[in-house]
Order: sequence, then structure tokens, then C-alpha cells
Amino acid sequence: MSQQAANKKIAVIGGDGIGPEVVAEGIRVLTHLDRAHNIGLQFEHFDLGADRYLKDGTTMPPELMQRLADTFDAIFLGALGDPRVPSNVHAKDILLGSRFQLDLFINLRPIKLLNSRYCPLKDAGPEDINMVVFRENTEGLYTGIGGQFKRGTADEVALETEMNTRKGVERIIRAAFAYAKKHGLKSVCMSDKANAMRHGHDLWQRVFAEVGEEYPGIETFHLYVDVLCMELVRAPKRFDVIVTNNLFGDIVTDLGAQIQGGIGLAASGNIHPGQVSLFEPVHGSAPDIAGKGIANPLAAILSAGMMLTHLGHADLETKVIAAVKGCLDAKQVTRELGGTLNTTDVTNAVIERL
Ligand code: NAD
Ligand code: IPM
Ligand code: MN
Repeated sequence: MSQQAANKKIAVIGGDGIGPEVVAEGIRVLTHLDRAHNIGLQFEHFDLGADRYLKDGTTMPPELMQRLADTFDAIFLGALGDPRVPSNVHAKDILLGSRFQLDLFINLRPIKLLNSRYCPLKDAGPEDINMVVFRENTEGLYTGIGGQFKRGTADEVALETEMNTRKGVERIIRAAFAYAKKHGLKSVCMSDKANAMRHGHDLWQRVFAEVGEEYPGIETFHLYVDVLCMELVRAPKRFDVIVTNNLFGDIVTDLGAQIQGGIGLAASGNIHPGQVSLFEPVHGSAPDIAGKGIANPLAAILSAGMMLTHLGHADLETKVIAAVKGCLDAKQVTRELGGTLNTTDVTNAVIERL
């Protein structure tokens, strides 16, 4: 290669449980692609997660958050959550902290079935299940606004306040429409619970109608989130782009993970266009299978693919998806998908196909 590679700085946070195991596999794929295509990736690893927290009380150093914002192009994260930290305080500071403080307002979660063998829905194929969810990622019920009063008594009160701002709702809805337009997609579905949550979700309804008018070529429709769950199972072909709030987006994308073949295949990006963004599998730290070498690395590998698009290499994400599809077609999969391969074997198969 004669051309000097541009440096792309990637912060790596493996985290807990299977997090470090699957992140290591994603990095093997990225390193392979970097060698072949001269992307100029530079990885810096950060020892953050339950072990570190239990050792010295560190969750997320504030100066590191600033460094991530100022000097990194992307963050590659495994998962956070450990039974030894029941408060989950480290996950809140590291994962939700990054989403909030780096203002990663788009949680982009594709739901794309690559091979019908892995879909639990009868007669569904890749042509039926191919959509993306735009999950609002910086407000909703996740801000921690609320409180407890008379905790531990019979008169206890616990409040969890859902925050919906005009700015926050508008920017995620705009991002969903812009994506639909850019990718030539037919429709955007907004999902809320405006029939029960009259204040916040009325705001979603009004903003969706307003922004939708700016995109006359794109069909718009609305479903209450309970019906959305039903329709994702009954008629997933209806959906191209779904936009919804933080909590509903969390829940429907685990449902979405299953209809695309399982949680071991679901990838995500926590994105602020033009700024440092964070890529991670949708799944958690899976303490039940951690340390056994059997975790499915494909969700992390597909998330690494999304990161490549963010870094300006959409062509390489396409290659990653094709290689993953090749493995699924050939049954080169881990045991939760009915295969016999362990974590590293699956990655080897992906790299061979690349
Ligand atoms: P989980 O996603 O970790 O596991 C749910 C089930 O899916 C388990 O049976 C697990 O073995 C299986 N599974 C998950 N990923 C897999 C993979 N790659 N390959 C094969 N099987 C896989 O969800 P959970 O059990 O509810 O959560 C465990 C911990 O992870 C909790 O502390 C939770 O808060 C945390 N969590 C973190 C994130 C994140 O960091 N983004 C996401 C979800 C859950
Ligand atoms: C996810 C996870 C997180 C969320 C948890 C760990 C706080 O479930 O990334 O989907 O709810 O956003
Ligand atoms: Mn989740």
C-alpha cells in the first residue's frame, strides 16, 4: 500500500462477563480488515467494568469521558453487568454515562434476518425481516430523574419520571426520516403509548406528524407499542424504519433480536453523527456462559461492522455482513444456534470468508 492510512482511534471497553470475550473477536476481524484495506485503526484498551470497580471503586473517570469526546473516533464496547454489583452503578456510569454525556442520541439497532433457519417465525425469510430501529438514547425513562420517599416503610413512594424534550424527540424522529430517505426506504413507523401516557407521548405524536410532512415521499404510520410487539411477530414485513423512545426501544429490540435469529446476532450503534460514537452488541454480559468460550461473537462482529460505516467504510460493513451470512448459511455457528463451534472458531470462519 502506498497511501498513508488515516489514523482512527478506537477506545475499547470489554466490560464484564462475555463482553471482553466477544470484543476480542470483533477486534480480530477489524485488525484483519485493517491489514487488508489500510484503514489505520489504533486501539486503546481501558480497564473498566465490575472487576475494576470492585478493586478501586472506579466506574468511569470524568477525565476519560472528556478524552473520549475530544480524541477518539469510536468506542467499541462489550457489555456491563455483574452479579457482584447488584446496584449496577458501574454500568450506569460507563454505558448510560457515555450515552448521555457524549450525547449519543441515536441508538441504531438493525433487525435483519440473514438466514430463515434461525428465525422462530413460521415461513419468514430475509425478505420479510429487514428493518432498523431508531431508539431515542438520551432521555425518556433512563435519566434517573425521580426519587424515593420513606424507603423501606409501608408508606414508601418511588417515582421514576419520563423526560421527553422537544429537542430530543425531534432529533431522533428527524434522524429516522433522514435514514429512510437516504436508503430509499418506504415507511417510518413511530411507536409510543400515547393512549395512556398523555403528556410526553402527545409530544411524540405532534412532532412525528410535523416532521413527516417534510418527507412527502415516505409513508408514515403509528402503532402503540403493545401493538408494535404483536405486529413484529405477525407481520414483520410491514416495517422499514421504527422510531421510538428509550425504554420501548430497549424492549422491542430484544424481541427484534429473536426474530433475526437470536440475541447473539443483534448489533447496535450509539451514534451522534460526526462525533465519537459507541458500538456494542445488544446483548448483555451473559454471566451464565461467561468464561466458557461459547459466546456467539457475531453480534459484536456485526457491531464492529457498523463502526466501520461510522468511520467512512460502509463497503467494509457490507463485506462483514456477507461473511456473517456465509457462516450462518454454512451452519458455522455457536451452540445456542444449534452449531458446534466455539467463539474463536466462528471468528476464524468469518475471517476466512473475508
Ligand atoms: P444477556 O443478554 O446477558 O443474556 C440473556 C440470555 O442470552 C442468556 O441466556 C445468555 O446466555 C444469552 N446470550 C446473551 N448473549 C449471548 C451471546 N453472545 N452468545 C450466546 N448467548 C448469549 O441478558 P441478562 O441476562 O438480562 O443480563 C446479564 C447482565 O448484562 C445484566 O447485568 C444486565 O444488566 C447486563 N446487560 C448489559 C447490556 C449492555 O452492556 N449493553 C445489555 C443487556 C444486559
Ligand atoms: C441495552 C441494555 C441497557 C439498556 C441496560 C444494561 C441499562 O439493556 O443496551 O439494551 O437498557 O439500555
Ligand atoms: Mn437491552
